[in-house]
Amino acid sequence: MSKKIILSGIQATGNLTLGNYLGAINNWKKMQEDYECNYMIADLHTLTIRNNPENLRKNTLNLLALYISAGINPEKSNIFIQSHVAEHAELAWILNCYTYMGELSRMTQFKDKSAKHADNINSGLFTYPVLMAADILLYQADLVPVGEDQKQHLELTRDLAERFNSIYGETFKVPEPFIQGVAARVMGLQEPTSKMSKSSSIPNDSIFLNDEPDVILKKFKKAVTDSENIVRFDVKEKPGISNLISIYSAITGKTKQDIEKEFEGKGYGDFKVAVAEAVIEELKPMQEKYKELKDNPDYLEKIYKTGAEKAKIIANKTLKDVYEKIRISFIEERKYECLQIMLK
Ligand code: TRP
Repeated sequence: MSKKIILSGIQATGNLTLGNYLGAINNWKKMQEDYECNYMIADLHTLTIRNNPENLRKNTLNLLALYISAGINPEKSNIFIQSHVAEHAELAWILNCYTYMGELSRMTQFKDKSAKHADNINSGLFTYPVLMAADILLYQADLVPVGEDQKQHLELTRDLAERFNSIYGETFKVPEPFIQGVAARVMGLQEPTSKMSKSSSIPNDSIFLNDEPDVILKKFKKAVTDSENIVRFDVKEKPGISNLISIYSAITGKTKQDIEKEFEGKGYGDFKVAVAEAVIEELKPMQEKYKELKDNPDYLEKIYKTGAEKAKIIANKTLKDVYEKIRISFIEERKYECLQIMLK
């Protein structure tokens, strides 16, 4: 039996947080053994918010270095940059013509981002989920690991796949969401009722993956808690402490009950230091590898070129099928270096 196909991606914006690591990349690493994994850097999606062009390129390469340092193995998984595979933009256009304005208007992320960037509500922001659907459907993905906030986009992807299939016959695999374990949602340290964010403007709210150990310790010591001083999981009454318990549990593999026992009779001070130390230890190997890779652009180039070539073979096959179904002529002679590599 062939392995199930996975596709996921992260936007190339700024520094990744502990939330991206525990909620996504760390799980991606584990999936490499059992699934056929495609991990993408969504640089086209990043354009929906204004970016400094030089930063975009830097962030894209840094994210690639981070995927690899976090344990995504390019020998096992296909790692590529979205914009390198033109089929994503092509399929997105086609799918746009099968997506209703009403569907996109209902997307909560669109509403949130429009409110946040009121001076730049562009059509890319509106059709963002359609490009995401193209990302997924091109690879005939069975499963898409996403956080809670992306579930609605995946629902739309499924609707689009079903809609297209029902008009033209079996074309796309209808993907399932793959919502991950305990720490699918790491919350802010200062505002534990909202998700830990790459772009939070609140100081000490987010742990960034490249934070130095002393910074991590300081941020955890300052984390918002409550006055009970008992390490007990209760998201409603104690969102701050519960978030720290979730983080500690995700890293150590201990259950919430074990953690409550471990810190019985001890105060928040001890607990915060323990969480900080666990996070520092967990991130250390990745941070060391990342420093090495960042200074090795030739290696990174090799990875993203090979990744794009492999991705194109699959993406091109799906797009060709789509073009045939809708009777758009397809240039058969699309030649890619990959074909030459394969023939060698
Ligand atoms: N929209 C996703 C996010 O912001 C990133 C993304 C783009 C993605 N394309 C994808 C995730 C395809 C999963 C599959 O988190």
